Amino acid sequence: MKIKIYPDYPTLSRETANLIARYIANKPNAVVCLASGNTPVQVFRYLVEDVKAGRLNIEGCTFVSLDEWVGIDKSSEGSCRNMMDRDFFHPLGIDESRIIFFDAMAADPKQECDRIDRFIASRGGLDIMLVGIGLNGHIAMNEPGTSFDLYSHVTELSENTKEVGQKYFSKKTILSKGLTLGLRHLRESNLPILMANGQKKTSIIQKALTLPPTTEIPASVIQTIPDAMVLLDEEAGELLSK
Ligand code: PGA
Repeated sequence: MKIKIYPDYPTLSRETANLIARYIANKPNAVVCLASGNTPVQVFRYLVEDVKAGRLNIEGCTFVSLDEWVGIDKSSEGSCRNMMDRDFFHPLGIDESRIIFFDAMAADPKQECDRIDRFIASRGGLDIMLVGIGLNGHIAMNEPGTSFDLYSHVTELSENTKEVGQKYFSKKTILSKGLTLGLRHLRESNLPILMANGQKKTSIIQKALTLPPTTEIPASVIQTIPDAMVLLDEEAGELLSK
């Protein structure tokens, strides 16, 4: 992995967007997985600006979902799809045919995972996979204890994730399971990017990047991926050099 630390969140977001844009400029039909959540919101703003200004063409890209709360419909505020619609797909008018997203209401969640895996495999793997990190070290909904070798799977959410996840909803929402890409997708993607900002992430970033890799801290898988980029602001990276 390669770690880069930027002075603040806007600079981190701009540089993350640049990295993604450069990749797409070289491979216009890239298969791109972008995390929802708060971390990449400004990255999306920059990418939307770049597309609208004609600096970036994403017409050939396909977008794959990272994760979703089981049972939370895509039209519900707080669903991963809803956040992506709000921040990225709708501002850019991306056609549904170019979006491959977990259906949280699927009758058979396991089959839903297989459908997503088959799509990714049919395209030879993911090009870009941009992920954040949870306060408990999760990546997407790969909770502590999850094997680094899994592709998509149905996951039991940790108590921490159920609690922290409330921040995406305006009223108390029961969260229990998730559908998620696996850490193996991250390990096999061409450009894996872990992005983190703010003081809340300082401690878990230090653990994930400096303790020996362990499934107890899923994000520590990043240490085992030679091509991975870890992009941080100074707050998130504060304890790394100490
Ligand atoms: P956040 O979520 O970007 O909203 O902090 C990250 C995560 O839980 O994976």
